[in-house]
Amino acid sequence: MNNNSSVSLMYYYSLLFFSNICLSAVATEFLFNGFRDAAKNLSMDGAALITSNGVLQITNDSTRQIGHAFFNSRVLMLKNDSISSPALSFSTTFVLDIITYNGTGGHGMAFVIALSIPLHGVQDGQYLGLLNENNNGNFSNHLFAIEFDTVNATRRFVDFKENHVGVDINNLTSVVAVPAAYHTDEHKNVTVNLLGGEPIQAWIDYDGAAKVLNVTIAPFMVPKPHQPLISWPINLSPIFKEYMYVGFSAATGRPTSNHYVLGWSFSTVGLAPNLTLSELPLPPRKKVNSSTSRIGIVKAVLVSSLITLVFLLFLFLVSKYLRNRRILSENLEDWEFDYPNRFPYKELYRATKGFKETEVLGSGGFGKVYRGILRRTGKQVAIKKISNSSSQGVREFIAELSSLGQMRHRNIVQLLGWCKRNEDLLLVYDYMPNGSLDTFLFDDDRGTDLSWNQRFKILKDIAFGLLYLHEEWEQVVVHRDVKSSNMLLDAELNGRLGDFGLARLHEHGKDPRTTRAVGTMGYISPELYNTGKATTGSDVFAYGILLFEVASGRRPIEHTAPSILQVVLIDWVRECHTMNKLLTVVDPRLNEYYDKKEMELVLKLGLLCSQSIPEARPTMRQVTQYLNGNDILSDDVAFVFSEVNSHDLNSQLRYTSSSKATISSTLWEGR
Ligand SMILES: *[C@@H]1O[C@H](CO)[C@@H](O)[C@H](O)[C@H]1NC(C)=O
Ligand SMILES: *[C@@H]1O[C@H](CO)[C@@H](O)[C@H](O)[C@H]1NC(C)=O
Ligand SMILES: *[C@@H]1O[C@H](CO)[C@@H](O)[C@H](O)[C@H]1NC(C)=O
Ligand SMILES: *[C@@H]1O[C@H](CO)[C@@H](O)[C@H](O)[C@H]1NC(C)=O
Ligand SMILES: *[C@@H]1O[C@H](CO)[C@@H](O)[C@H](O)[C@H]1NC(C)=O
Ligand SMILES: *[C@@H]1O[C@H](CO)[C@@H](O)[C@H](O)[C@H]1NC(C)=O
Ligand SMILES: *[C@@H]1O[C@H](CO)[C@@H](O)[C@H](O)[C@H]1NC(C)=O
Ligand SMILES: *[C@@H]1O[C@H](CO)[C@@H](O)[C@H](O)[C@H]1NC(C)=O
Ligand SMILES: *[C@@H]1O[C@H](CO)[C@@H](O)[C@H](O)[C@H]1NC(C)=O
Ligand SMILES: *[C@@H]1O[C@H](CO)[C@@H](O)[C@H](O)[C@H]1NC(C)=O
Ligand SMILES: *[C@@H]1O[C@H](CO)[C@@H](O)[C@H](O)[C@H]1NC(C)=O
Ligand SMILES: *[C@@H]1O[C@H](CO)[C@@H](O)[C@H](O)[C@H]1NC(C)=O
Repeated sequence: MNNNSSVSLMYYYSLLFFSNICLSAVATEFLFNGFRDAAKNLSMDGAALITSNGVLQITNDSTRQIGHAFFNSRVLMLKNDSISSPALSFSTTFVLDIITYNGTGGHGMAFVIALSIPLHGVQDGQYLGLLNENNNGNFSNHLFAIEFDTVNATRRFVDFKENHVGVDINNLTSVVAVPAAYHTDEHKNVTVNLLGGEPIQAWIDYDGAAKVLNVTIAPFMVPKPHQPLISWPINLSPIFKEYMYVGFSAATGRPTSNHYVLGWSFSTVGLAPNLTLSELPLPPRKKVNSSTSRIGIVKAVLVSSLITLVFLLFLFLVSKYLRNRRILSENLEDWEFDYPNRFPYKELYRATKGFKETEVLGSGGFGKVYRGILRRTGKQVAIKKISNSSSQGVREFIAELSSLGQMRHRNIVQLLGWCKRNEDLLLVYDYMPNGSLDTFLFDDDRGTDLSWNQRFKILKDIAFGLLYLHEEWEQVVVHRDVKSSNMLLDAELNGRLGDFGLARLHEHGKDPRTTRAVGTMGYISPELYNTGKATTGSDVFAYGILLFEVASGRRPIEHTAPSILQVVLIDWVRECHTMNKLLTVVDPRLNEYYDKKEMELVLKLGLLCSQSIPEARPTMRQVTQYLNGNDILSDDVAFVFSEVNSHDLNSQLRYTSSSKATISSTLWEGR
């Protein structure tokens, strides 16, 4: 007896002894369609367990897990415990299912034939719970495994790829390994994704006589392919001992998977019994709501919120576009194209930031005036928005405006263009940074007083502006609304006539408010009041009142005046003139800093212009000549005042207080 056989004999006896205590008889064939009642037939360790519905779980998907499940009866694998006698044929089939929720799964599982259980000292991860780094490749392991590896081979093992099936003999570097696949009868090579989460059936058949190992896999329910995935000639006799244990091993590393076996049959006496596939339990699957990992949830949330955001942004842009289209849409009538200087509504809308309240410069009887900046040119403009204009009047009005747009004079406010939209009429003027004259004269909080020189210059400017309207342009234009609030000051404090053409609009539109009132209270000449017909003479009358305003710093009608005499400015100036104390009306803010001659000229010119009889008034040409000193106003000029005039003004005054309406209107008249 050689040394070898005595060791074998000892081993044999110890096995017998051991089996007498805790192991049942040697198995030749078994079948598990699910493992519900198999707990006592299996020897499990590590993470292995049988789930409540009978699935054999080798590992869960925690990191660094190892699980083993062996059939707890030994299996006779060698007829004679000698490497010279051939290993017995065996056949096994099982359904495995690898499920990962963590993206990349790992590491894999293996069908194992081992000499002894439990497997001690094995490592997780790439060692699949089969071996460790010290005994890997040691011939005395007596370990045979078919690995289902789902992780790329590491540097240590030269297995080439993840998702492969390999044959391991004592060594995790497979003697043969191929990508997981199956061959159809048409010899098509179909990849099987081990990490696909679906059950996969595997068949392992060893022909002990022919010494050929066949490994076959196929997706669940696909009949066993005729051509094996691996058909490898190998003599297993040196690997096997007489009695071996068969089972499964699996391990996770940093990548993790749930490794399951759903059913299993084994035989050493023929083909493994067929599994009843319909009876196999299904592995537990996490609920959809928690089936994604935290990273997955975060990703899903991010993606869905991104999609929502993009969608909302899209909605926002579309609604903004539609809103803009609605707001900026224009229903142009054909005639509107006939007149020049038409602005698109869009341009004015943008220039005024959508007619924002903060851009309002002021508001009067006709509507609001907005500051605006034209995008095209960057030019600052004032845009007067007149609401509720009847379209009938508007057309003729715009015709007149268009010709008005051709007016050029340094003492009138340039009309740049117009725009009509629905009931709104928009007039675009040069922007006058210093606003209107009345704010300088009457607003105490304005902070700056005009010096006499400035006031005198402004009066001259306005006179030249009116002269241009009355006599120098191609047609006679009656301003009709000469008053301090319509006189604007440009950046250099030049006086300019503003606010044109609006009375005409109301005349055409038959606005009831203008049928009686034809100007602004305090500026209305007696004949205008009586007849309603504006002339250049009524403009001159109003200019006379303006002269008083500028000289005295008082409004034409001052309800809060210290005495009843001073309520109507013209009456007061006339009274002072009669009493030969004309200079008592001078604005006290001028503090005596004024040219007495010019002051007297202005006041007397005011008296001259505001005479009751229109024919007695000077023309604007004469006014400019007096102001320029080209004509001398004689000291003893007789002013024609009538009692009627004063009476009329008082009745106007009553009208004003009862109606509370400040009516301004302007009229263009051909001569
Ligand atoms: C499992 O064990 C029980 C009792 O030990 C036995 O009756 C049964 O046949 C075994 N099943 C298999 C498939 O071996
Ligand atoms: C996985 O199995 C191990 C060992 O049984 C256990 O400690 C761990 O909690 C399990 N993990 C999960 C997620 O169930
Ligand atoms: C995988 O997911 C399970 C829970 O589903 C978790 O316990 C485990 O730590 C995860 N593993 C990795 C590597 O993220
Ligand atoms: C088994 O081995 C023993 C000793 O090595 C030998 O005597 C016997 O003939 C063998 N049996 C068979 C069936 O090969
Ligand atoms: C494992 O097998 C590989 C390939 O056959 C071989 O190169 C390596 O040396 C083996 N490992 C040991 C420890 O024998
Ligand atoms: C193989 O394992 C045996 C028993 O565990 C040990 O005695 C022997 O030294 C090992 N051989 C190698 C090469 O590590
Ligand atoms: C495995 O390696 C291949 C290339 O060799 C690579 O394309 C693949 O992404 C790797 N897979 C994993 C899970 O790392
Ligand atoms: C099956 O296809 C894969 C690549 O798709 C290839 O690597 C493998 O060798 C093929 N197997 C056979 C048996 O042709
Ligand atoms: C292994 O596969 C080959 C065909 O590739 C077949 O001829 C042989 O019978 C098979 N052996 C077993 C044991 O299934
Ligand atoms: C197993 O199934 C195959 C094909 O479905 C059939 O040919 C074979 O006879 C079956 N074996 C048994 C033992 O029922
Ligand atoms: C997932 O569903 C279970 C029951 O269906 C519930 O208890 C749990 O709160 C859900 N988790 C989340 C994150 O919705
Ligand atoms: C416009 O006229 C309508 C009735 O014709 C009136 O209700 C509305 O208040 C007017 N709007 C303005 C801004 O005058």
